Parts: sequence; structure tokens; C-alpha cells
Amino acid sequence: MNDTTTKWKPELYNEKHSFVYQYGEGLIKLLDPKENQRILDLGCGSGQLTSKINKFAKKTIGIDKSAEMIMDAKSKFPNIEFQVADASNFRFNEKFDSIFSNATLHWVKDFKGAIKCMYENLNSNGKIVLEFGGKGNVQTIVNELRSSLKMRGYGKQSELDLWYFPTIGEYSTELESAGFRVLFAEHYDRPTKLADENSGIKDWISMFAESFFIGVTENHKEEIKDEVQEKTKDKCLIDGKWFADYKRIRVVAIK
Ligand code: BEZ
Repeated sequence: MNDTTTKWKPELYNEKHSFVYQYGEGLIKLLDPKENQRILDLGCGSGQLTSKINKFAKKTIGIDKSAEMIMDAKSKFPNIEFQVADASNFRFNEKFDSIFSNATLHWVKDFKGAIKCMYENLNSNGKIVLEFGGKGNVQTIVNELRSSLKMRGYGKQSELDLWYFPTIGEYSTELESAGFRVLFAEHYDRPTKLADENSGIKDWISMFAESFFIGVTENHKEEIKDEVQEKTKDKCLIDGKWFADYKRIRVVAIK
């Protein structure tokens, strides 16, 4: 669940961004893990959802690109298997009955590689259950961030294209071209409450969008984060609470 420049900080993630895995619990219902099944959690982060899935499955393995997150997952859940691996380039000798992925695939720019890997590592009739950012995700925050960077002369940073946020039409077509049968696809608004009432948007940027600030001076960094938070107030501050304007894609497909 990573790109080459994002450095994950497990403590900050668990302390202020636990909504990432809390929202994922509903997705486990859709996965419907069974006690005879072998399941892969793709982009497992600190392993919270892997451990929940593992309660119902025969074997669950969690993979993540971030070595820091995998270290954290192993220390929290020593009885579960976790590995550092790339979502668009992984291979297991034994295939899976289901692949589950929450809040990861928008980080994977090589989405074709990820779809191919999921297909190749599934048994026939195996299922994928995925949720990630869809078209228009976090647009309010990111538009303001780009404009604040640009205004201060950081043209290159303002054009950084960090995530893959497809429509369900685009993503279902990719899945079908790879051989999947799409059973269910949904693109929905999920305004996401941020933990800190004073610095909600600023914290979100620090956790997930720090790559936009490579080459930006420390003074400008703080100024820009303050400005973005101020400018997103109209849309993101509701009854004194900060919300990120998440738009999710949920997909279930069969091999
Ligand atoms: C998301 O979960 O939608 C997301 C998280 C971080 C960056 C971009 C999107």
C-alpha cells in the first residue's frame, strides 16, 4: 500500500488514521471467509483486518509493500504470516480461494500488473473483494493542495500524479479483459471523519500526501497545509468535525 516515496509511520497510522481499517470491517462481510479457505490480504498495513479475517479462515496471509507496516503487523499478530511484497508483482506457490484488499489499490499505479497477479494467484472460481479510492476521491483536498503549491511556484509538485482513482466502468473493463467476471461494482461517497478536530485536514495531508512536498521549504510546507485546511472548510468542516471527501469503489469478481 505504498509508492516509492511514501514512508509509512505505523504509530501515526494507528493513532490518527485507524478509520482506514475500521471502515474495512464491512468489506469482510462481503468477503464472507470460510474455515476451509486460504485468503490473501493485499495491502494489509498493520494487519488488523488480516487478523479479523483469519478468525474465520483456514489460513490468511497479509502482504504489504511497506517493511515498516509489516514489522508492525508481525509484532501485533505473531501467529499470522505477513510478507513484504509488491501488489503488482507477487507470486505464491499455493493459490488462494479469495483475495481481499482494502484502501490499497489506489496506491498501485501499475493496476494492470496488480489485476494480473490477483488472477494468477487465485484458484478457479476464486473471488476478489476490493475497496479503494474511485474517480473524484479526495478531490476537494487535492485540488486545494495543487493550487497552493502552484501559487508558490511549485509547479512540478502541483502536478504529481500519485494515485489511481478509476471509475467502475474503467476498472470493471480492466478486470473483464483479464478474465474476471464482475459480480458487483459500486462507486459511492463516503465522507470520512478525521480524528483531530483542530488539524484534521493537515494531519491527512501529512500522513498520505507528504510526497507533494518534496523540494518544498519547511516554512512553505506549514503555510500550505494551513491554507489547504482553511480553504476546504466550506466542504470538509461539518458541525465542527473534519471530513475527507472519500469516494470509494467496491468490487467483487470471480475468476
Ligand atoms: C483513500 O483511502 O481513499 C486514500 C488514502 C490516502 C490517499 C489517497 C486516498
